[in-house]
Amino acid sequence: MSEAADIRFKVMPGGQLAGRLRVPGDKSISHRSIMLGSLAEGRTVVTGFLEGEDSLATLSAFRAMGVQISGPDGGKVQIEGVGLHGLQAPAAELNLGNSGTSMRLMSGLLAGQSFSSTLVGDASLSGRPMKRVVGPLVSMGAHIETTAAWTAPLQIHGASTLTGIEYNMPVASAQVKSSLLLAGLYARGQTCVSEPAPTRDHTERMLTGMGYPVQRDGNRVCIEGGHRLRGINIDVPADISSAAFFLVGATIAPGSDLTLLHVGMNPTRTGIIDILQQMGADIRVLNERDVGGEPVADLRVQSAPLKGIDIPPQLVPLAIDEFPVIFVAAACAEGRTLLTGAEELRVKESDRIQVMADGLQTLGIDAQPTPDGMVIEGGVPGGGCVGSHGDHRIAMAFSMAALRAQGEIEISDCANVNTSFPGFVEQASKAGLQIKATRE
Ligand code: S3P
Repeated sequence: MSEAADIRFKVMPGGQLAGRLRVPGDKSISHRSIMLGSLAEGRTVVTGFLEGEDSLATLSAFRAMGVQISGPDGGKVQIEGVGLHGLQAPAAELNLGNSGTSMRLMSGLLAGQSFSSTLVGDASLSGRPMKRVVGPLVSMGAHIETTAAWTAPLQIHGASTLTGIEYNMPVASAQVKSSLLLAGLYARGQTCVSEPAPTRDHTERMLTGMGYPVQRDGNRVCIEGGHRLRGINIDVPADISSAAFFLVGATIAPGSDLTLLHVGMNPTRTGIIDILQQMGADIRVLNERDVGGEPVADLRVQSAPLKGIDIPPQLVPLAIDEFPVIFVAAACAEGRTLLTGAEELRVKESDRIQVMADGLQTLGIDAQPTPDGMVIEGGVPGGGCVGSHGDHRIAMAFSMAALRAQGEIEISDCANVNTSFPGFVEQASKAGLQIKATRE
């Protein structure tokens, strides 16, 4: 996090991806394992935990609130749960780095505590919208102060009495839904959240796995305060959002044949597979199984020619983190790809519509940004220097573009790849990408 601007990737053109690899653990599930494991009674043992900066920021924050957590050690973390009312006031502000998930989910959870806390983040996180969680939390009775622009630092005042609400989310956001459900653990009565489109449901699944009653009826999910969580074992699958770079890389690089192991296949996350298959990708889903309440599979991907498509808007929330690399796939496809209904991409770790359009144009691709998406005419990317703007997923997406590029691609500001994918350069090199990381 402190080194955000000092790693540059240089990726040689061409090559192919082959072999078998397991990408690091799912970021969303790793965050929730620490949060819910801390609030549970008894021990939670996590394997496959993502040792990336974002989930480590959550881990440190709960340690700072008195939770005994050992590890991570080879992906294993052991949490001695303190129960719903066992957290202690942190001695200092909680720094959540680049992690929007930590800040949004924790604001709900902390609104229900007896003590006050302050949440801060890096420059990117400090610019991201927090009104979407603070607004409904305040209407539950929380006392939270933000900047005049509704951004972090968030000062959360303790000892508020929370009351359940009925909330219709204006944006399809799992972070907002989860934040309100976590506040709902501490609220009087029922907290119900309705979503305009399905979003990832890891919070609901983990709560249920820990024995906490959660009711779902169509697009509405409800929770009632006053029950208990019990510690469990959690096996975190490989992150489909990290696997996505390799799905696209192997598809666009002729001669590739790559198998990604133990990938999380929660149906609220698999939009990337649907979109790539609609474009013509050859992805086979093998060994489907259930691991602790989350579906998992191995994915075999072989190179295939892609064609441009109109991306169905209902798939947008199911692939929300994968658009940087989907844009790369579109840049290598035959014909036009159109994305609409994805204005949320403008408020991610960077403005992913503008930053990707700028980078693709630098590589000679006709990519036109729109307020809520992009129009991309497929072609052959050239080489060039592109900026990742400190956004991990932009850096990894442009790395994969080199597999089909005519010249070397250099990418600046890549240190934040460590927020979600530690070891990316090593794993990608092993699979066949000709990538080097240098200090800027
Ligand atoms: C996440 C939800 C998504 C996603 C983010 C992780 C989560 O954000 O983009 O990377 O773990 O709940 P939104 O819910 O804001 O779309």
